[in-house]
Formats: sequence, C-alpha cells, structure tokens
Amino acid sequence: MKKVLVATEKPFAPAAVDQIKEVLDKANYDLVLLEKYTDKAELLKAVEDVDALIVRSDKVTKEVVDAAKNLKIVVRAGAGYDNLDLEACTANNVVAMNTPGQNSNAVAELALGMMVMIARGNYNGKAGTELKGKKIGIHAYGNVGQLVAKIAKGFGMEVYAFDPFVDAEKVEKDGVIQVNSVEELYSTCQYISLHIPSNEKTKKSIDFDLLNKMPKGATLVNTARKEVINEEELLNVFAEREDFRYVSDIAPDCKDEIAEKYEGRFFFTPKKMGAQTAEANINAGEAAANQIVDFIENGNTTFKVN
Ligand code: 3PG
Repeated sequence: MKKVLVATEKPFAPAAVDQIKEVLDKANYDLVLLEKYTDKAELLKAVEDVDALIVRSDKVTKEVVDAAKNLKIVVRAGAGYDNLDLEACTANNVVAMNTPGQNSNAVAELALGMMVMIARGNYNGKAGTELKGKKIGIHAYGNVGQLVAKIAKGFGMEVYAFDPFVDAEKVEKDGVIQVNSVEELYSTCQYISLHIPSNEKTKKSIDFDLLNKMPKGATLVNTARKEVINEEELLNVFAEREDFRYVSDIAPDCKDEIAEKYEGRFFFTPKKMGAQTAEANINAGEAAANQIVDFIENGNTTFKVN
C-alpha cells in the first residue's frame, strides 16, 4: 500500500484533510498526517518510509529528500515552490509538482482586502481614501495577478500590468493596459500588487529606484514573497517618502523598525495567510492528492516543476 505524508507546519483546514483522505482512500493509499511540527527532526523521521509527500510552505531541503528513501513525488499544495530543493529532488529521482491556480482566489481577495484596509488608515476612524479611480499595476500577470486585476476593476480602478511571459492579447482582452517595462509600471501606478516568484533573479529586485518612481500615494502590496524586497532600500523609501505605504502577507525582517518609526503606513499579517481559507485549502489539497495518484498510477507529470 502506498503511503502519502501530509506534512504541514501550518495545517490545512480539517475539511481539506478529509478531502485528501477521500482521494487517497479511493486509490487504496495510506494517509499519514504530520501537522504543526516544530522540529525538523519530526519531519525527517516522518518522511523515512513514504512514497509521496504533500507540503505547503514547509521546507523540503536536500536533507529531507535524502531521508525519504522511498519518495517518488512531492507536491507543494500551492503556487510558489521556492521551498522545494529541486536539484535534490531531481538528483534523487523525485518528481516535484505544484498546484497552480488552486489557491489564487484567496490570495487575490487578501491583496484587495489589505488595500482597502490601508486606504482607510487601518480603520483608525479618520478620513481615508478610496480605491476607485486609482491606478493599480499588476507586477506579473499569472493566476493571482489576473484575479487581482478582475477584482480591482470591480472597485473601479484603472488596471495596468507588466509580464513579459504573458500574451499581450490576453492582457488586452481582460481590459488591462499592458506596459513595456517594469519601470513604466511603477512610474504609472499608485498601487503595485506583486506577484513575482522568489528566485535567484527576483530576490531583492524591488528596490529604492523602482519604488521611488511611484506617484504620490505610493502603496506596495505584497502577497508574493518577502524575499523579493530589498529591505534595506525599502527602509530608505519609508524614510524619504512620507506618502509611501507597504502592506504585506508576512512581515519583512525589518518589521520592528517600520513599526517603531512609521505608524499607520503599513500592515503585515502575523503568519502567511493569503491561501489560508477553507476553500483554497480544499482546492490545493485535493489537487495535490489527485496529482499524486495520477502520477503513481498513470505517470502523469503535467504539473512537474523539476
Ligand atoms: C503559495 O505559494 O501558494 C502561497 O504562498 C501559499 O502558501 P501556504 O500554503 O504556505 O499558505
């Protein structure tokens, strides 16, 4: 009987675990649950004899892959797979997958939710501003970016996007204005919503020069990864521009300095929670389980990322 480990330091909603179990039961696979673990040793022990692994932002390092002697597939139930050591997976003949699109709506709703919150001064009772009529720039027009664009249009915002990998026709069809460079996006839009992945090229790429191009009332919305921000330069932008605000799903490492000096100009979630809805957990968890069964039974590698 195949063994599938769900290892989630930040657990799925119970309904999502039920759904995963249902998929695995049907395939006659065993489900092993490791939730809220606090020590890497627990994960290393749990992976020892499993055939497949489902994780969220949990770090699947070389050490984890090496410890998992029977592992054939690891699925990151979510979009960003910067937590998987792809080289180690490939070297150990382990297929790595993600579940793109499955939790996008939850992330997009959080992006807009944080925008409303900061526009209203974090609900401090004073007069704030509205999103209607403002320009928003979508930095990377993937699954989440497209949904943010759609919801922002509902708010009456003017939507711009920059993404060299997406067909210009598709962007235009969505009623979104495609710009030709990242610099143009930032100098045009008061709101920027980040949707780039975290990798060697993008880490610390959001820097002073880029942010300083933003028009008055600049608000950076980050539901991507904190690693893409150059934090030293972010602090310079906060210091030099009183109008600059930053909302982020998960706090930057420099959060204490921001909190101490720039009250009212930021909001950070205490734990990464963009995808933390029952719906997103069910979608991503169920997709992960289905992808595992389909790979083991039929060799389907559609969502392979290594
Ligand atoms: C993703 O990349 O899908 C999101 O960042 C969700 O991460 P999480 O599963 O840790 O909430």
